[in-house]
Amino acid sequence: PRVAVIVVAAGSGTRLGAGPKAFVGLDEHTILRHALARVFEAAPAQVVIVAPSGLEGSALTDAIEAAGERRDLVTVVTGGDSRQASVAAGIRALWADVDHVLVHDAARCLTPPEVFDRVIAALELGHAGAVPVLPVIDTIKRVEGDLIVGVVDRSELAAAQTPQGFRRDILETAYRAATAEFTDDAALVSDAGHTVLAVAGDARAFKVTTPADLERARGLVAAAPV
Ligand code: CTP
Ligand code: MG
Repeated sequence: PRVAVIVVAAGSGTRLGAGPKAFVGLDEHTILRHALARVFEAAPAQVVIVAPSGLEGSALTDAIEAAGERRDLVTVVTGGDSRQASVAAGIRALWADVDHVLVHDAARCLTPPEVFDRVIAALELGHAGAVPVLPVIDTIKRVEGDLIVGVVDRSELAAAQTPQGFRRDILETAYRAATAEFTDDAALVSDAGHTVLAVAGDARAFKVTTPADLERARGLVAAAPV
């Protein structure tokens, strides 16, 4: 099966506060460039980068650097106002011969190739969708205002990461049918009635969201340059 990876990079990075997040530097390379280096290790048949309006050229430059000889696999499109709208724009740019689609946050820029491999393997086994998850470490409380009113059983919780992979037809149909905003692609596909498999995530697939996350990512890159 031919796998496409949609890398959503069109967010504004409000919480980080350093401009469009995918274009912030980790070292001499941007967050997007680091994300793409790992995406290309998964041997995709197409890579769709969803860029903020006006930054398509910068995205293409990063993509061509990361792609090397595989620059023909790169497609850049313009994103939308929400992550879901940006994914939808990526889906519209998929080539006709793509069978499986991974949707990945550029902000999870240090996600190791093994995570991509596990998601792709689940799709090859015939699952409709697969999501990398990590166990929840903290004790989770139910609160009402400033009162603790209960505890949530941690064993039934998991934190979802990306890349999230889906059969192409299922993802396309689910996006076409979606009328609400969902928190992630797996929620949208589950809502359309499909079963999604959980595979092992990785701590390095954390999302750069806050300045503290950016410092963490920069520290990891400095310790093990890629
Ligand atoms: N994203 C996108 N289009 C949007 C919003 C988000 O492509 N309209 C992408 C981001 O670029 C990011 C991923 O979705 O790679 C996860 O989103 P998030 O971490 O929330 O990034 P931002 O929306 O940019 O950050 P913030 O919410 O702090 O503004
Ligand atoms: Mg956001």
